[in-house]
Amino acid sequence: MDFLQIRGRRPLSGSVTISGAKNAALPLIAATILAREKVAISNLPDVKDIQTLLKLLDNLGARFEYGQNRAVIDTSAIESTVAKYDIVRTMRASILVLGPLLARFGHCEVSLPGGCAIGQRPIDLHLKAMERMGAEITIKSGYVVARAPKGLRGTTIIFDKITVTGTENVVMAAALAQGKTTIINPAKEPEVTQLCRVLKESGVEIEGIESDELTIYGTGGEPIEMVNISVIPDRIEAGTYLCAGAITNSQITVRECEPDHLEAVIVKLMEMGFPVEKGDGEITIYPTEKIYPVEIITSEYPGFPTDMQAQFMALSLLADGTSIIEERLFENRFMHASELMRFGATIQLKGSIATVIGPTKLYGADVMATDLRASSALVLAGLAAEGVTNVHRIYHLDRGYERLEKKLQGLGADIVRLKG
Ligand code: UD1
Repeated sequence: MDFLQIRGRRPLSGSVTISGAKNAALPLIAATILAREKVAISNLPDVKDIQTLLKLLDNLGARFEYGQNRAVIDTSAIESTVAKYDIVRTMRASILVLGPLLARFGHCEVSLPGGCAIGQRPIDLHLKAMERMGAEITIKSGYVVARAPKGLRGTTIIFDKITVTGTENVVMAAALAQGKTTIINPAKEPEVTQLCRVLKESGVEIEGIESDELTIYGTGGEPIEMVNISVIPDRIEAGTYLCAGAITNSQITVRECEPDHLEAVIVKLMEMGFPVEKGDGEITIYPTEKIYPVEIITSEYPGFPTDMQAQFMALSLLADGTSIIEERLFENRFMHASELMRFGATIQLKGSIATVIGPTKLYGADVMATDLRASSALVLAGLAAEGVTNVHRIYHLDRGYERLEKKLQGLGADIVRLKG
């Protein structure tokens, strides 16, 4: 199995170009199920999760050409509406085909995604919303069996909890439903916003984008003429490289990103003492003389993203004092803490709160990635640690970071991918 070997404490410099956002690309690919004709999607990140969703579409009978960060997808030939266990179990976001398949074909079977390293992650809100829209849902042999023979109908959906993929599923289902769907308390992440904008440009009437109430007027079952799409930059990848600059106390520039999407991350870096400069589509981080401890509470956008929590935990190990990190979205998203302790970190966990006592002198270690973002935190710690770090189980990283080691090498890091 591949692993990453890092020789730490090398200063970084230069710039790194950010790829398209995986979490924006996934719902956009799923949304092609709603399209009448071929759709081209560019700026796709070359990561495993994208390949997995394309494989799922392939399984359903869709055709596509894929390469060089671009896919042309034709879903007009879909003949199956069964999303199989083998694929869904490798990527929870496969649940994103539920809304569009049901809306377009009136039936589908999607394997239940099951447990996941960062917590229970139920899909009850997705299912309740589909039921409200007139679908009959049963769970049979590990599959969600959904039927809406007369089509879905618009209604009001009130989300008790803000859910990103749940909102995306409902938006896609509502696009082809009969009448008006109102979503109260939708997610407002930039990835959700891009999906809404693309559907709107494709002729679906949508009001309230980026607000707390989204209204979608469905086509009554008619597939849509979907515009070609360029995926927005990955704010989590950009944030991770900013942390790489910070943890090595280096000046680096993150290019082709959207600084406005990173406000909460930039504020925390500045609170920790790092000068950060926003430019047009780029952000530069500068070294600091003193790293201050930080208090972080994860929340929905525009709050501090849970997908940046692990990277900031790694960074806070170097802070001069005690940092407090509260994870409010997922109940088991501190698995990186015990791996970080292998570098010498002192971290106390109590429920959803991690107390990180810094500063720590980090020493390279063999560590194991447990989930996607946790993996990048271990790489960051490796960049700051003295000696050699081996990060194992990097298939988690490959799900969401395009050419991570190449991009870090470009910044001057001593990091290689090895087989062992
Ligand atoms: C998405 C992102 C993920 C990110 C997360 C939170 C994608 C592909 N993944 O995941 O990277 O960490 O948003 O920003 O975009 N919940 C329920 N019932 C449901 C759905 C969710 O209780 O039916 C709960 C979850 O357990 C969690 C919270 O709601 O506690 C938010 O989860 P959600 O926004 O749905 O996360 P995902 O869409 O799975």
